[in-house]
Amino acid sequence: MISKPKISIIGAGNVGASAAYRALELDLADVVLLDIVEGLPQGKALDMTQMLSVTGISSSVIGTNNYSDTKDSDVVIITSGLARKPGMSRDDLISTNTKIIKEVTQQVVKFSPNTIIVVVTNPLDAMTYVAHKVSGFPSQRVLGMAGILDSARFKAFLSMELDTSVSKIDTLVLGGHGDDMVPLKSYTTVSGVSITQLIENDRLDQIIQRTRDGGAEIVKLLKTGSAFYAPGVSAIEMAQSILKDQKKLLPCCVYSSGQYGVKDQFVGLPVILSSNGVDKILEIDLNEAEKKELTTSASHVKELCDLIDSFGIL
Ligand code: NAI
Ligand code: 2OP
Repeated sequence: MISKPKISIIGAGNVGASAAYRALELDLADVVLLDIVEGLPQGKALDMTQMLSVTGISSSVIGTNNYSDTKDSDVVIITSGLARKPGMSRDDLISTNTKIIKEVTQQVVKFSPNTIIVVVTNPLDAMTYVAHKVSGFPSQRVLGMAGILDSARFKAFLSMELDTSVSKIDTLVLGGHGDDMVPLKSYTTVSGVSITQLIENDRLDQIIQRTRDGGAEIVKLLKTGSAFYAPGVSAIEMAQSILKDQKKLLPCCVYSSGQYGVKDQFVGLPVILSSNGVDKILEIDLNEAEKKELTTSASHVKELCDLIDSFGIL
């Protein structure tokens, strides 16, 4: 019997469970859902197993608190971490999540030394840096998910504005997963027609701002958490391109060794994702404004990584 690929998802909260659901829906892989909280991953996995009895899909899912169950995973998606709580400073959050990503990555690597890691935990670009540093993996095998989500938000808002099918809209959002992400107008088209021919510049800038604030808009509505359906599906989009060697061109947080003038740091860039992980970083032409925005965004990621280094945790 041919065995299925194995995806382990660390953190069985909202994003982790949504990613597990999506992987099962696609019949992509057997799934291991792991959390520090006893019962949580087991309960969600049991519920999803019963869902599979309805859908008739043959992939399996287990819930666990034990990393030995993640052994020999092909892809590991890390969603474990805290959201900022009242009274907690940004630095407190960063140091707490750094400790969590460090501990999780050490365990992941111990049981799956050949896996490809996809980080989702925020602050995304900095946590991807942490996972890379702790894992000791080549940079091809450690990535972060944000650009697919940010591009999806931009596309959704454009589709709402134009009252047209989202399936014909293409775009790329690069840079860090933060207020200064870089939605690329020059690569935004509807069936090949430049977006600048379809939407006035001022209105387009408003839509770009809504994209930048896309996570916060959902937090404000939900009040008790952040987005999870689109993030979960976006993480599995990356896992699918890796596991099926689809070589899709996707915006992902990756290690740049000088591309776009960004040296030795993680930031969102257009990449080809294959069974190797990052197969290639594409260097596309950017206009001067886009280049400047990408440099600014990358410098903010660097400030966070320098802050993490100053904690002396790694
Ligand atoms: P959540 O609170 O629903 O789930 C987080 C889970 O992590 C909890 O179940 C918790 O018990 C678990 N956890 C905490 N410490 C752990 C440890 N040491 N080992 C294993 N599990 C541990 O949060 P949600 O909504 O699932 O978000 C998860 C993370 O993803 C957050 O940091 C969030 O900001 C981030 N996020 C990032 C996005 C992106 O585009 N990169 C999009 C959406 C969320
Ligand atoms: C988002 O963009 C919170 O990073 C998360 O929804």
